[in-house]
Amino acid sequence: MINSMAANHAVWPKEDDAIFGLAAKAQEAIKKYGKENVIDSTLGALVDDNGDLVCFKTVYDELKSLPNAKIAAYALVAGQPEFLEAVQEACFREYRPDAYIKAVATPGGTGSARHAIYNYTNPGDTVLVSDWYWKPYATISEEYGRKVTFYKLFNDKNEFNIESFKENFETLLNKQKRLVAIINSPAHNPTGYSLSDEEWDQVIDIMKENAKNQENRIILFVDVAYIDFADNERRKFFKKFSNLPENILVIVGYSLSKGYTMYGMRQGAAIGISSNKEIAEEFYYSCAHSNRANWSNCNRGAMEVMARITKDPDKFKAYEEEKAKYRTMLKRRAEAFVKASEEVGLEILPYRDGFFISIPCSNAKEVSDKLMEENLFLIPLKLGLRFAVCAVPEDKCKIAPAMIKKAMDSIK
Ligand SMILES: Cc1ncc(COP(=O)(O)O)c(C=O)c1O
Repeated sequence: MINSMAANHAVWPKEDDAIFGLAAKAQEAIKKYGKENVIDSTLGALVDDNGDLVCFKTVYDELKSLPNAKIAAYALVAGQPEFLEAVQEACFREYRPDAYIKAVATPGGTGSARHAIYNYTNPGDTVLVSDWYWKPYATISEEYGRKVTFYKLFNDKNEFNIESFKENFETLLNKQKRLVAIINSPAHNPTGYSLSDEEWDQVIDIMKENAKNQENRIILFVDVAYIDFADNERRKFFKKFSNLPENILVIVGYSLSKGYTMYGMRQGAAIGISSNKEIAEEFYYSCAHSNRANWSNCNRGAMEVMARITKDPDKFKAYEEEKAKYRTMLKRRAEAFVKASEEVGLEILPYRDGFFISIPCSNAKEVSDKLMEENLFLIPLKLGLRFAVCAVPEDKCKIAPAMIKKAMDSIK
């Protein structure tokens, strides 16, 4: 009996996505014990205090007002022109870098990560990622025969570990002469960290120093999937991508999943920033070719909605107001979790913005299993536990740290 038909490169372990698996278990517990008795902190989606998924009214009213043809029609391969303009405005706001900038539509931020990784590395190359990281960076790299190496995200003072970034960046670049380095900020998944403007300066200094060698090709992928849930000030760093050396290309991965509550609609953009017009054009055509080859074109209705909201001042204001309400809700939950952690002596990583808070621990799986017995569901990672404040009401954010601390102490 044969047990495999797939080509060698397409055979992977038979395992389902761990996060979605735990989320399903949490849902089972909710059915069995009632939602008031379960803390479901698994998925990275914004849930209100009733346990319902937040779906922005401003977004879905707009979608439902569209003529069917605006939803049903094919979109252009690179994306609708109005969307490509709107997405740049929404992403950069008043901090647009002084550079040649080209955007291409992608299915979510995931598509932009795919384009950065595949189109800017050679087969067998290694991509640089932080040790606390969003797993699909590794999944995408593996899919295409690329590897990942990790820099330490934090130093002993719980600041961005610029030394570790520099060391790994230079080692890989010297070896490969081209490097895709990934920084997920602001509102990093899974820690909620955002680089300060000074930390961004240090990153850019390292890139510029290494760009002096004209042979080097430096590609920085900046994943801003959660930027719309950080303060506008957190966009300031974009300006720093002005007038960079020509052998540095910055690719920003923008997503409508969180900022517009369009998770399942699969829409985002890859935005290339270069001081060289040719390089920006090359980026555009490279990504457009990849679109055609992989998914042809993206979600026409999602693009239409986003462009209409961004271009109409009244609609934009209403959207901003709705989002601000939920940002406040998120902030209060995170503050409650941070404060309660301090009170019970639970060590957490520095949280600044966004959907998640992380707890370093060496036996995350055991702790997570233990907490499941008490109906607290969170995500075990290699380096610790991820708690999704986006999914948990404030009162439960207050009690969760004590439960986590107790479970960790009981296993030590
Ligand atoms: C760090 C990070 N990057 C990118 C994404 C992109 O998600 P999507 O493809 O749904 O836009 C996510 C979503 O979970 C994420 O957490």
